[in-house]
Amino acid sequence: MPKGQPMTDFDKRILSFQNRGKTVPRPSLIKTPEQIEGIRRAGVINTGALDLVAAEIRPGMSTEDINRLVHDYTVGHGAVPAPLNYEGFPKSVCTSVNEVVCHGIPSEDEILEEGDIINVDCTTILDGYYADASRMFIVGGKTDAERERLVRVAKECLEIGWQAAKPWGFIGDIGKAIARHAHKHGYGVVRDLAGHGVGNAFHEDPEVDHYNTRKDGMLIVPGMVFTIEPMINMGTWEVFVDEEDGWTVVSEDEQPSAQWEHTFLVTETGLEVLTY
Ligand code: MF3
Ligand code: CO
Ligand code: CO
Repeated sequence: MPKGQPMTDFDKRILSFQNRGKTVPRPSLIKTPEQIEGIRRAGVINTGALDLVAAEIRPGMSTEDINRLVHDYTVGHGAVPAPLNYEGFPKSVCTSVNEVVCHGIPSEDEILEEGDIINVDCTTILDGYYADASRMFIVGGKTDAERERLVRVAKECLEIGWQAAKPWGFIGDIGKAIARHAHKHGYGVVRDLAGHGVGNAFHEDPEVDHYNTRKDGMLIVPGMVFTIEPMINMGTWEVFVDEEDGWTVVSEDEQPSAQWEHTFLVTETGLEVLTY
């Protein structure tokens, strides 16, 4: 609280949770209207890049072709692809095929085949503001019934997490709801990677776990911006990181995995998607 300013009802409400031992957001995690507008504009470009991938993706394409599409689109709109050089990541987008959970590195040698399922994860920086989203694509439009169900249920998990998150509720509500749905289908929920606050940086607090941590987690307050991005495995929830490249996250049993992600703004009534 800046000195000399009266405490608003909003501040008092947050303090009342803090006094009951709950984790509450630092003031910097509550975005100003100007910051929200900036993140919203980054989101429009991010959505445009994913829409372009949706229009162009087909069997015979390499994942490097997808990288080029996203890179050129983003730069062409005056923005920067956040993955490029992020902690040493070498490309402008993550492309995660079949048993790859996330952080797949695009390659000229990786050719998409009909029936592959792929997650394309784009993050755009515009005027210093970040928006982050990913979608699944079924290459050629058709795959086997099991992978089709995995892709559908993973999307339902994102929607269920979204509905579970309420202003003045808790981040922990999200993972509880997602895990219940995934487990109903016999799927594993990845624990090693989480959603995250976003907007002024790529990864901010809070950590948004997608499994049931049995903890409340941070209080959800209007003005917060964070992602929900459940990674749902057909088999075990466990994963490993490829030793060669240090990035590619793969399901431990090498069964398929699916993920969908949006960036959300917390409003007085619920979550608004900033990446449609
Ligand atoms: N976009 C990912 C996320 O949802 C992060 C990718 S980091 C990268 O948080 F370096 F692999 F691009
Ligand atoms: Co993210
Ligand atoms: Co992402």
